[in-house]
Amino acid sequence: MARHLITSALPYINGIKHLGNMVGSMLPADVYSRYLRQRGHDVLYICATDEHGTPAELAAKAAGLSVAEFCAQAHDAQKAVYDGFELSFDYFGRSSSAQNVEITQHFARRLQANGFIEERAIRQVFSPADDRFLPDRYVEGTCPHCAYDKARGDQCENCTRVLDPTDLIAPRSAISGSTELEVRETKHLFLLQSKLQDEVEAWVTKHEEAWPHLASSIARKWLTEGLHDRAITRDLDWGVPVPADTWPELAAEGKVFYVWFDAPVEYIAATKEWSDADPENRDWKSWWYDVQDVRYTEFMAKDNVPFHTVMFPATELGVREPWKMVDCVKAFNWLTYYGGKFSTSQQRGVFTDAALELLPADYWRYFLIANAPESDDSSFTWEHFAATVNKDLADTLGNFVNRVLSFSRKRFGDEVPVGSAAGEAEAKLGEEIARLLGEYEEQLETLQFRKAAQALRALWSAGNSYLEEKAPWLEIKTDPEGAALTLRTAMNLIHLYAVVSEPLIPASARAMRTAFALADATAAWVSREQAASLDAVPAGTPFTVPPVLFAKITEEDLDSYRERFGADG
Ligand code: 2FM
Ligand code: ZN
Repeated sequence: MARHLITSALPYINGIKHLGNMVGSMLPADVYSRYLRQRGHDVLYICATDEHGTPAELAAKAAGLSVAEFCAQAHDAQKAVYDGFELSFDYFGRSSSAQNVEITQHFARRLQANGFIEERAIRQVFSPADDRFLPDRYVEGTCPHCAYDKARGDQCENCTRVLDPTDLIAPRSAISGSTELEVRETKHLFLLQSKLQDEVEAWVTKHEEAWPHLASSIARKWLTEGLHDRAITRDLDWGVPVPADTWPELAAEGKVFYVWFDAPVEYIAATKEWSDADPENRDWKSWWYDVQDVRYTEFMAKDNVPFHTVMFPATELGVREPWKMVDCVKAFNWLTYYGGKFSTSQQRGVFTDAALELLPADYWRYFLIANAPESDDSSFTWEHFAATVNKDLADTLGNFVNRVLSFSRKRFGDEVPVGSAAGEAEAKLGEEIARLLGEYEEQLETLQFRKAAQALRALWSAGNSYLEEKAPWLEIKTDPEGAALTLRTAMNLIHLYAVVSEPLIPASARAMRTAFALADATAAWVSREQAASLDAVPAGTPFTVPPVLFAKITEEDLDSYRERFGADG
């Protein structure tokens, strides 16, 4: 048994997330966490809302609420959706917590003591039209590297390069659109990342082999460009305050830390929030501080990779305390909506709350994992979604479960029938199941989610092939004992599916598992040998027939989805 710390990138507080956000961080982290728990590992899956920064301030303003009130409401709203998706966080925290203030300030003091922070006067973009300094991401313009014309002052979404607002060509205020921007002088804290370049590089070199390619290639690109010193404070009302004991002048001016400085610290702070809720039984430091036996895996979309592979590691290294650093970074490309961007600001695409109003979480979970944008971007279309649900979930899995259980009940009653002893067909099926299970495990362990979904689907298909081959509906006429064996074997497959499908489709897995009145109804993982023997559900076990697991998506449904959400690319 190993200890696994798992985090998914913290969703911004400023609105309900879309399916692209879901598949690029939280959902795969959840699938991985569930799998490891089923295998008996000690898992801590932590996430939180990322509540600081200008987006929160602006969204609060638009909602006519104080930022604190807005964040409290928006946190609950996001949490409700994630509960609906059955994300099995051990804790879902808030980056505005007292714990995050404490640990972020501690990190800053340590960096200062170690000579990695410097106070510098900078010239910053001020927008008279908006009457405020414009934070980096609220200055928009053309990227000097790739010419993308909607690049933000902190990062170009198109080429992922980290930018400074003054790098932008033809800058404008993203709040008002005003191009009459001034540059004014103000003092800020700088993190001297350039001093940490060698250490970060050595650390990346030591660890990148364990990272899937997308993460290591982005980290390398960033290191090659060189680590620049970065301003880590902002002129905002909302954020982690600069501590007065260390920087009285800046604190008096009301400066706060930059959201990207405190957000990754919240992985640690959220663990402390979790621990503080039950201090007798939980020890946050045993996951984060001076630990050797924890494996830490992070999940995120590709635009977050530089912050997690270079910037936050630089912070952790500069603190000069033994904080746990990431072991494996799993990054994702973009999920597109008909080849175009999902857009929060333009409400284009499918948002997670709307998705759950249409269909149960398992439909989305399965589709998204089966089409996770791993090696490349992948596209969401309603047509592809409906075809996948109808074929894989309704036909291959759902129909199998229903057909087997209904037919057996009709012919043999409410208990798993005995029938003849297992023969050649069952031995062959067992071997195939063990092989496919091994493949599925390997894909999950190496974080290859699309391939894992393929292997799971292959397990479901193997049951269908067996059933077609044995055809118990014909067998029953000439060899009822043989038909009973076929059905008992198929019911054992259903139970196996219940266990191994849990990470992807937990609700349907529960429905399959609880169809059998077994004394041990847990979802504990099964070994390949156990799986091959197909005898976990003994003859005589009472069972019920669950309601149809997956309804097919009809042409009329499709029309209404396309009309409601737009499907024009
Ligand atoms: O890109 C984003 O959505 C950020 N809110 C992710 C933060 S991840 C972490 F470092 F906090
Ligand atoms: Zn660019």
